[in-house]
Amino acid sequence: MLLSCGSNNPKLTGDTTDRKWWKEAVVYQIYPRSFKDSDGDGIGDLKGIIASLDYIKGLGVDVIWLNPIYSSPNDDNGYDISDYRNIMKDFGTMADFDTLLSEMHARHLRLVMDLVVNHTSDEHAWFKQAKSSRDNPYRNYYHWWNAERGKPTPRWSFFDVNSDAWKYDTTTNAYYLHYFSRKQPDLNWENPKVRGEVYQIMKYWLDKGIDGFRMDAFQFVSKDTTWPVFPPGYDKHIIQYYGMGPHLHDYLQEMNKEVFGRYDIMTVAEGAGSTLADAMSLVDPARHELNMAYHFEGMDVGNFDPNYSLPDFKKVYSKWDSAFAEKGWISIFLGNHDQPRMVSHWGNDDPRYLEASAKMLTTFLMTMRGTPYCYYGDELGMSNIKFDKMSDYRDIATLNKYLSLRQTGGDTASFIEFQKRSSRDNGRTPFQWDNSTNAGFTTGTPWIKVNPGYPAVNAAAEEKDSNSVLNYFKKAIRLRKLNLTMVYGNYTLLDRDNSSVYAYTREGEGKKFLVLLNFKSSPATVVLPPGINLSKATLVLQNYPGPSKNNTLQPYEALVYDITP
Ligand code: NOJ
Repeated sequence: MLLSCGSNNPKLTGDTTDRKWWKEAVVYQIYPRSFKDSDGDGIGDLKGIIASLDYIKGLGVDVIWLNPIYSSPNDDNGYDISDYRNIMKDFGTMADFDTLLSEMHARHLRLVMDLVVNHTSDEHAWFKQAKSSRDNPYRNYYHWWNAERGKPTPRWSFFDVNSDAWKYDTTTNAYYLHYFSRKQPDLNWENPKVRGEVYQIMKYWLDKGIDGFRMDAFQFVSKDTTWPVFPPGYDKHIIQYYGMGPHLHDYLQEMNKEVFGRYDIMTVAEGAGSTLADAMSLVDPARHELNMAYHFEGMDVGNFDPNYSLPDFKKVYSKWDSAFAEKGWISIFLGNHDQPRMVSHWGNDDPRYLEASAKMLTTFLMTMRGTPYCYYGDELGMSNIKFDKMSDYRDIATLNKYLSLRQTGGDTASFIEFQKRSSRDNGRTPFQWDNSTNAGFTTGTPWIKVNPGYPAVNAAAEEKDSNSVLNYFKKAIRLRKLNLTMVYGNYTLLDRDNSSVYAYTREGEGKKFLVLLNFKSSPATVVLPPGINLSKATLVLQNYPGPSKNNTLQPYEALVYDITP
């Protein structure tokens, strides 16, 4: 673990904020399978990440969040763990991990690991024991329903072909619960032994020196084990029914006492319930649970419609900002491994607009309050691959949904079209290092196709071009790093109903900034309050060369002004 940071940052003028390194950090998320392959097997690995640390450090980020790297049969690309204390063979060895961590810390980069403990793999030793007999000591590590009681109360599953979260197992004539795939049985958190095992696993990694956890699907761990019947259509409101179960807070407080409270770490759960109050209850410092909320309301705006409503988007981010203005802390992100690419989703991947819109979105991430999470490749402007054929897809979510549609006679053609905008595989293609074969990701055959846009969009070319998306990304991070206003300053939305321009100020720590972002492909005008005079403002970041100082923005233009009085 690194020493408490903040010391390299400029001094605060209004010292009212509760400074924390994880608030001031910029997180870079790596999907290890797709980052850099060092041994030619077509799969990214730890040695590949180690070799790329200078590139990552050069971005200006502080924290790397690694998607799961533990032993796994890979039904869900590592989110099905068979051994929490070992490294997946595809990715390397524990010695590689130790090198990665020490090389990161030598560069003052922190490491946050994914902790997947709502479920294990069905190939985990606990589950193998549990399913072997009803009186096995590990039986209660999971949720079972004995078949002589009849069928269990229906539960919906994210990845099951039949959407059925109960899988019948012949060995003991019982069903087990799996909210995700059949190979991801849910752990029974009511069992104190399970919780104790998890705390030991967490300490194992923390004692190695890692700097925090991103806790996968954690809002689902506590279940009402009286298994009440849910009303028809509950599966359309799954967070409401599955999230924030009866003992979730008890478990988090226990975990905090047993583990978190003993280390200076970043703790973030995936998902934050279905209301602002739920989210606050997870991160209110007085409750001693987690330190950062990661909500999905922003991601849900428009359901992948490229013509999503900008006022709706603003409404979500403004609402979340104001709810956490006084206490608690949130994350800001526009993409991750479960989402399509940021630029295709929220910007415009037409070659005419790709660069400008990728830069504009980066400006948004770096000028909002909350910890920004940047997803690997977004710093280059990587876009959706938009596969035409099902055979190109690798993701269990897409593959099983397709099978299910075929079984039920659903509209597979529209499904394939929709996947071009929504599939998780869009965000999982190999990192584009250079313009050599396979974008320099591997000398072998990549596990998933490389985006054909790589000859233009790649790190080597962008490093050399001072106007590239990559160099803009570095500038935007620098702006945030030099101005704590961007981290802690108050956010005020301007011109609320403007359907093209997102305008806001950030004020505090003795400074005031104005951010103007055109989210549309046509020029757009912003209406500013009389107190803001652009002719007196200093432009500190811009994504077009030489913008004129008036209120009309070019397509996807981004402008940040210092308007400190
Ligand atoms: C959420 C993860 O982000 C996703 O990739 C995974 O498939 C599910 N949880 C199940 O672990």
